[in-house]
Amino acid sequence: MKIGIAADHGGQRLKASVVEHLKASGHTVFALGPETTPDDDYPLIVRPLADAIAHGDVERGIFFCGSGIGPAVAANKIAGVRAAMVENEWSARDGVEHVDVNLLTLGERVIGESLAKSIVDAYLGARPEGGRHERRRKQIEAIEPRPMTTADGSSRIRRDV
Ligand code: RB5
Repeated sequence: MKIGIAADHGGQRLKASVVEHLKASGHTVFALGPETTPDDDYPLIVRPLADAIAHGDVERGIFFCGSGIGPAVAANKIAGVRAAMVENEWSARDGVEHVDVNLLTLGERVIGESLAKSIVDAYLGARPEGGRHERRRKQIEAIEPRPMTTADGSSRIRRDV
């Protein structure tokens, strides 16, 4: 699977460990997002990854930071991104099967490396279910702002008024 990854300063160690695991599992990993600094800002770092997911450049994304919360909130502003902060395998699987989560955010200050790898395996191994879950996903889409692609191919968000 084509997977985009990024991390802020709070998730560097966990990112390195999980990326090794992803490669060993046969996934293609794309590093998206700027180089980190000790005082970097996750809303700016998650944006290129969220855009790549929304454009279909990668199939799924994973973001690493301290808690996982901030980048999920930020990335969910982008139409087509369904981000979730997850701390266990069950939620990772359920999040894909029911909500078609396409950006997983993990908190290095909360979960250990082994658990993170198990969560990632559950996330990447799951597939969205149809039926009532598809109906609910369509209801979510109906609330979303719509993506608008400009002439130069860059992404813009247009809110219906
Ligand atoms: C950065 O210190 C921290 O706020 C960030 O990594 C993350 O936890 C935000 O959700």
